[in-house]
Amino acid sequence: MVAIDQVLEKLSTVIDPDLKKDIVSMGMIKDLELNDGNLKFTLELTTPACPFNVEIEDDVRKVIAELSDLKAFDLNVTAKVMEGRSLEADTQMATVKNIIGVASGKGGVGKSTVSLNLALALSQTGAKVGLLDADIYGPSIPLMLGMEDGSMEVEDNKLQPADVNGLKVVSFGFFADQSKQAAIYRGPIISGILKQFLVDTNWSELDYLIVDLPPGTGDIPLTLAQTIPITGILVITTPQDVASNVAVKAVSMFEKLNVPIIGVIENMSHFVCPKCDDKHYIFGNGGAKKISEQFKIPFLGEIPLNYGIMSGSDSGKPIMSTNTDSPSAEAFRASAKNVAAQCSIIASNLQEEMESESGDSESSNEDSTNNGTS
Ligand SMILES: Nc1ncnc2c1ncn2[C@@H]1O[C@H](COP(=O)(O)OP(=O)(O)OP(=O)(O)O)[C@@H](O)[C@H]1O
Ligand SMILES: [Mg+2]
Repeated sequence: MVAIDQVLEKLSTVIDPDLKKDIVSMGMIKDLELNDGNLKFTLELTTPACPFNVEIEDDVRKVIAELSDLKAFDLNVTAKVMEGRSLEADTQMATVKNIIGVASGKGGVGKSTVSLNLALALSQTGAKVGLLDADIYGPSIPLMLGMEDGSMEVEDNKLQPADVNGLKVVSFGFFADQSKQAAIYRGPIISGILKQFLVDTNWSELDYLIVDLPPGTGDIPLTLAQTIPITGILVITTPQDVASNVAVKAVSMFEKLNVPIIGVIENMSHFVCPKCDDKHYIFGNGGAKKISEQFKIPFLGEIPLNYGIMSGSDSGKPIMSTNTDSPSAEAFRASAKNVAAQCSIIASNLQEEMESESGDSESSNEDSTNNGTS
């Protein structure tokens, strides 16, 4: 009769293609029961948006089928998003597993559009997602969600995010009177507002909080990078050199601040002609790929230039919630999966670092004990 160690041995041959580690040592196998040849366990993936979910499940079924003497096999597949930031170091936002800042060098490259549609794509996989519109000078998320008259409630001294399309949303645009004066706010006030939005909001449990930043490397991106540990920065650029050359400056600033770069997405990448289906590279070709190669950061996707994306944003009906079968929605979905996969990789590296640090401190404790007794 088959034994548990044979099952684990088989399962440890299944490698997560992103994390490059086997699923047993990653702790993805839970609640394993083996009774009289009846096998049952849960496969817990690192994110519901993993691009390889189906592949990993298929591999698990394949290796289990190779075991002889098994009478029945019951597989349950779930996902629990990994923590891509040190929650120990951040007691202020301890219920938010990943914080993703969306940045660019130049303005108008589509950060807000991409932030919103990525947030929706992640949420549609079953993840709990928040969206913080941190563009205090020119908040555009309320318009893109059709919530220009939206307002924010405060309960127990905490901001209550609006619940829209399954997302928890906070925007300075919800403070109508104050947001009209935003242009006159400077450094410390701006930083203070952002800090409040981050830590004084009742986000509850979130797998991913997407933070839509204003363009460039000013007070707001700087405050985000320095206030709390974040998972990393997602860079948005358009293909032309004028945009990608400036995006490089943003990448350099975050790298200097030791904030991980999750990767780069190229927006308005190409136009697909509705008549001939040909791709036209209106703004040139390959700006984001160039940044990705130059800085050795992952290239996470390309979003087409599309009328539906623009009109969805302008009319408060984002394409990810109204036209989910369109090629544009598919592009956002593919990019969202790549972003989630990179967050899992950052989380796995962080876990490894923490384990080796705690190992180091244990062995240094042992050393000091030895020293004390010798
Ligand atoms: N892929 C796309 N196809 C068509 N239009 C797009 C696309 N992405 C963004 N847009 C449009 O481009 C304009 C600028 O987009 P958006 O406001 O998202 O940019 P941004 O980078 O957030 O700008 P800002 O720097 O001002 O914050 C908007 O009108 C938006 O609808
Ligand atoms: Mg914007």
